[in-house]
Amino acid sequence: MSARVDWRARTGSPLRGTLAIPGDKSISHRAVMLAALADGVSTIDGFLEGEDTRATAAIFSRMGVRIETPSPSRRIVHGVGIDGLHAPDGALDCGNAGTGMRLLAGLLAAQRFDSTLTGDDSLRKRPMRRVTEPLATMGARIDTAAGGLPPLHIHGGQHLHGARHALDVASAQVKSALLLAGLYAQGETEVVEPHPTRDYTERMLAALDVDIDFSPGYARLRGGQRLRATDVVVPADFSSAAFFLVAASIVPGSDLCLRAVGLNPRRTGLLHVLRHMGADIEEAHAGRCGGEAVADLRVRHAQLRGVEVPQALVADMIDEFPALFIAAACAEGPTVVRGAAELRVKESDRIAVMAEGLRALGIRVDETPDGATIHPAPLHGGSVDSHADHRIAMAFAVAAQVAEGDVQIHDVANVATSFPGFDTLARGAGFGLE
Ligand code: S3P
Repeated sequence: MSARVDWRARTGSPLRGTLAIPGDKSISHRAVMLAALADGVSTIDGFLEGEDTRATAAIFSRMGVRIETPSPSRRIVHGVGIDGLHAPDGALDCGNAGTGMRLLAGLLAAQRFDSTLTGDDSLRKRPMRRVTEPLATMGARIDTAAGGLPPLHIHGGQHLHGARHALDVASAQVKSALLLAGLYAQGETEVVEPHPTRDYTERMLAALDVDIDFSPGYARLRGGQRLRATDVVVPADFSSAAFFLVAASIVPGSDLCLRAVGLNPRRTGLLHVLRHMGADIEEAHAGRCGGEAVADLRVRHAQLRGVEVPQALVADMIDEFPALFIAAACAEGPTVVRGAAELRVKESDRIAVMAEGLRALGIRVDETPDGATIHPAPLHGGSVDSHADHRIAMAFAVAAQVAEGDVQIHDVANVATSFPGFDTLARGAGFGLE
């Protein structure tokens, strides 16, 4: 587990310059997993050097996959083929990564060998029945700790069969776990979602030559197919860029450019909401990176207005609510969030933890079971606990840029799970952060 680290953040200068944001976490996890299962050698460029994605790579190394790191953010993965993984010599540690654990649950449920997945204190509090129950309908046998929590003890040697899953929860992790299990199942596996979620697993399977039928909210594949190695280029992570989009919007005088950010439509809900709030964000140099839409985002300070966040956009911005709450605290008029109960089961209870932190800085937040109303006011200094949640820590570093007084942010080491070097990049752009 990481050592406890705190930040002291305060108003810096207007945010300026051009920033290169690290690679996408969701795509990096999937790239390692699928390249490991492919026939042949794949190169991954733009791989996120975060703790979460490195934990996933380490897990595959322990199952006999040779992974080279010729330079930072590049991996060469020597695929072992769909049936080539070896039994690991002990429990597999996913660190802080829900994506790692849930996707691996689907993949490992189909192997010949037994395995155990565990993780850090935060991950061991996250619900896993959402994957173990639908996997059980395909013939998987997975034991959890009390309450459906990790560790997961996965019994190998089961013969999985395809199934049609109509999910209650909009979750790309659950969908992906089922599709990965479906690769090994007899017959077809079909997933229907209540709201469309990110489709990186589907896109990457198709890029590795798997015959898969997918459209927003729907995916179907047949078991027994092989994956063919390919090279993957990972775009910059929109969720990491989000902190700078909000920061430059709220800090007067800011004018920041974020280079080649991934703009998959299932990720960019915050862009729509911020623009609706009055943000000044321009896209330039639109292009493609590894099959994904990317563009440079230029963001300049603007006065924001509170909004009601459309519920249809919640899944498309599920990781961006900590950043949105800060934008809302600095807007004119209240912002209302509904239909976002999933926030309560992320790396922390992001509704409760954001409300607690904002209150400590002088903002009124009315919590509901599935959202909150944020009443803006001038932010003052104070002490905030991130509850070891990377996105909460970064959100409050942004808030501190407009607070009248120092903001102490406790327990920030987990920023390295998704955005290593955030503090250095942020300081370089003008943040007051130490
Ligand atoms: C992710 C899916 C989302 C998201 C997480 C990454 C993924 O989780 O919050 O950060 O890579 O599939 P859910 O599937 O639980 O919504």
